[in-house]
Amino acid sequence: MPSERYTAFIDKLRDINVANSVAALLEWDQDTYMPPRGAETRAAQLALMTGVAHERLVDDDFRAALEAVEQERDEAPIVATNVREARRVFDRAAKLPTRLVQDIARATTLARADWAKARVDKNFTLFAPHLKKLLDLKREVAEKIGFKTDPYDALMDEFEPGTRSSDVQQVFDELRPELTSLVAELRDAPRRPDTPVLRRHCPRDAQDKFSRTLAAAIGYDFERGRIDPATHPFCLGLSPNDVRITTRYNEHFVPMSIFGTIHETGHALYEQGLPFEHAHTPAGEFISLGIHESQSRLWENMVGRNRAFWEHFFPQLTARFTELANVSLDDWHFAVNSVQPSYIRVEADEVTYNLHIMLRFDLERQMIAGELAVDDVPAAWNAAFEQSLGLTPPNDAQGCLQDVHWSIGIFGYFPTYALGNLYAAQLFTAARHALPELDDQFCRGEFAPLLDWLRINIHRHGKRFRAPELIERVTGTALTHEPFMQYLKNKYGPLYGI
Ligand code: CO
Repeated sequence: MPSERYTAFIDKLRDINVANSVAALLEWDQDTYMPPRGAETRAAQLALMTGVAHERLVDDDFRAALEAVEQERDEAPIVATNVREARRVFDRAAKLPTRLVQDIARATTLARADWAKARVDKNFTLFAPHLKKLLDLKREVAEKIGFKTDPYDALMDEFEPGTRSSDVQQVFDELRPELTSLVAELRDAPRRPDTPVLRRHCPRDAQDKFSRTLAAAIGYDFERGRIDPATHPFCLGLSPNDVRITTRYNEHFVPMSIFGTIHETGHALYEQGLPFEHAHTPAGEFISLGIHESQSRLWENMVGRNRAFWEHFFPQLTARFTELANVSLDDWHFAVNSVQPSYIRVEADEVTYNLHIMLRFDLERQMIAGELAVDDVPAAWNAAFEQSLGLTPPNDAQGCLQDVHWSIGIFGYFPTYALGNLYAAQLFTAARHALPELDDQFCRGEFAPLLDWLRINIHRHGKRFRAPELIERVTGTALTHEPFMQYLKNKYGPLYGI
């Protein structure tokens, strides 16, 4: 039986999280159906709701409730998880003075507007003063939060609690040379995919129907979820019973909706698999952005770009899209796995993707540490890009201005994308060991065994384990790049004939 104090604490904690979920729903609406002129009203609604959530969190009442349950030292896993994570969130919020939070909100509003202009004009100097200001503010955040040796850790902790940047650095250092040599081998490979087939005309309506078929087939529950069109694909989990994803369509590039939808469905399967009885408390929340991304990348790449997956779905694809009728399964499978160094991260294939991330990770750490001056960022970016991908960006819009993250004051987020890829490979390798029939099941359109394995090993635990602990428990090893490299070699070797 939970104590009275614990019940009181959980009630308060749930209210804070429910207020945050109302704000998230307002943002979802803003990105999907809000009419253009609703922005001003929406800003007021959002400011009120996030304000309510913040006030309740830093309130003396909540502090007292938290301290009371901490004194009880109940070690039941659910209780311990909720108390530990509530403390973490409380401390992060309480350490930041209101003045600093408001300064950041103001600075990012201005920075984002000028970043958008700078990107259109391909003119970094317009964005530079904002980046300087935001770095100063973020260094102040790191100081207030506190860190052992690296201020970047205090920032990364917001997205990937329990993972240190030195650990990430070590794995990246091992990954980088192996990845660059694979990219070089693929560049000179004897076989090439026929990528123009991907540009054939596929009507939007048919893409929408096909994407829904795929999402449902891999386990997305439409009674507890929906798909809507939006400019940027994303997933929002309001509770395990209300999960929403968005997708986008290009009639001359059907992979955008297919793999975009599978990616977001991967995120959504995680959200739908969290324990509903613990909704709006840490025991019912996802672990970290890295683990979240591991679920989306596992379904998008390891399942969705798998030959066995298309053994099952290819007849439906060619029946649905007449212009693809004369394409062979082999050619389609090769085309959706084409590797080509390119400038834009979000369009990168799964081989070159992590090189984009490592570049950002290096530059961010140097900027936060004050070792790289903002004015030198474009040159540093281009030099690093040339070195790792063999291309020199033609302008800053296709270089250091391409991502929104810095303009909204987000530093320490990028590494979670690469962690997602590495964790996905570790988890998929473990799943393969546990489920030796996996490929045969995919050929038959059976995805429940894999989903059940993910549910049991990852989803149902909520935030009980931090990411490094979960990965070690489920795969038997700490974070490592080896399963990822092995997975790439196994797939791309035969495809490219190397
Ligand atoms: Co994602």
